[in-house]
Amino acid sequence: MSAINYSEKIPNNVNLSEDRTLQRALEHWQPNYLQWWQDMGPEGSQNFDVYLRTAVSVDPQGWAQFGHVKMPDYRWGIFLNPGDADRKIHFGDHMGEAAWQDVPGEHRANLRRIIVTQGDTEPASVEQQRHLGLTAPSQYDLRNLFQVNVEEGRHLWAMVYLLHKYFGRDGREEAEALLERNSGDADNPRILEAFNEKTPDWLSFFMFTYFTDRDGKFQLCALAESAFDPLARTTKFMLTEEAHHMFVGESGVGRVITRTCQVMNELKTDDPAKLRAAGVIDLPTIQRYLNFHYSVTIDLFGADQSSNAAIFYSSGLKGRYEEGKRSDDHKLKGQTYKVLDVQGGQLVEKEVPMLNALNEVLRDDYIKDSMAGVERWNKLIEKAGLPHRLKVPHKAFHRNIGTLAGVKVSPEGRVVSESEWNAKVDEWLPTAEDRAFVASLMGRVVEPGKFANWIAPPVMGINRQPVDFEYVRFG
Ligand SMILES: [Fe+2]
Ligand SMILES: [Fe+2]
Repeated sequence: MSAINYSEKIPNNVNLSEDRTLQRALEHWQPNYLQWWQDMGPEGSQNFDVYLRTAVSVDPQGWAQFGHVKMPDYRWGIFLNPGDADRKIHFGDHMGEAAWQDVPGEHRANLRRIIVTQGDTEPASVEQQRHLGLTAPSQYDLRNLFQVNVEEGRHLWAMVYLLHKYFGRDGREEAEALLERNSGDADNPRILEAFNEKTPDWLSFFMFTYFTDRDGKFQLCALAESAFDPLARTTKFMLTEEAHHMFVGESGVGRVITRTCQVMNELKTDDPAKLRAAGVIDLPTIQRYLNFHYSVTIDLFGADQSSNAAIFYSSGLKGRYEEGKRSDDHKLKGQTYKVLDVQGGQLVEKEVPMLNALNEVLRDDYIKDSMAGVERWNKLIEKAGLPHRLKVPHKAFHRNIGTLAGVKVSPEGRVVSESEWNAKVDEWLPTAEDRAFVASLMGRVVEPGKFANWIAPPVMGINRQPVDFEYVRFG
């Protein structure tokens, strides 16, 4: 079951050939997907041979095979973790009942919405990143970008399989619509706001893969607990791919920091103007990018109080992060959770029913996880002997959803007036000038083993290959 059949048009480990109708429907969607990849996927790269990993089984050991592939020939397919015939629902009102192998009628609309919303983010990020290949700081980075892109494409396949298999005609229509919405399109945008933002430069890309792919991790972890077993099995395998995306982000930002610290030490200065003149990105600019990506990403968890979140949990559609490892009653009725509110111009905590606050619970778990990586970045600065530190802003900073939308809060968590916000915002969020400066550094480096001046080389290559390996053959 865990081995993937590559002899079929659509590689899969779900015995697709036994369901002719489904197979035909997906083979009908496949050329539309490839057309979307041509039109909206990585720009100007269709002919490159890229050193990519392809899933060959879903076993935790050695599921990947590496080799040079032209991206349009990448074998996108359908891979689910093996099932457990005795799996039980382990939270919510149906706790203890057998997990669902099909979609219960009463949860159909909600499950479809969850799957479509997740599915929509996958091609959106490919669209957001489509121009980055033109300015890659090295072959190594170019390869990592493309690896992330083909896997986001595969995640779209994962969701489209569920839509086709379990949601009939509605599902097929939704699968088409996933190729029709486009990131940033004024008439037909992607569903979630962060996925309509631009990813204009590589610092944004690394921040995005660190922060926003990590949102993906937490959403997928919550769905991996689902009572709807095919969704749980699909998302479990997606998570193994997601880990690499966050590695790209964490190590990418880390390498930018390392290079900046080197130059700070060489020039014995922390003056942003001097560092910019030397062609590296000053730490305050990195901090402002961090503030932006962090705040936009934590909005993705949704409103702090949400009756939908309660319904999704109680009906077993979406669990908490690591639901299985928690020792409470997994029903949460009568329990409370603290969320932020604004009273008399101050942020205050208030207790609300936990079931309604599950978006906030997931957001808080995410915050802990993302702070840990920021501390690892700080270790790099510390190791360079420099006193500066990066910091995630307060949870209420620059929010656009829920209670905190419309309240102006400083990165330290102080409610500020509109005029103070306007006076300080250029210290807190990337300015047009910051973005123009970062853009000015973006130039294409194509020689194996060479890196742009603003970023340090990685400590090691991909799949034990040397750093100067030919990761991309331009052909
Ligand atoms: Fe993804
Ligand atoms: Fe991802």
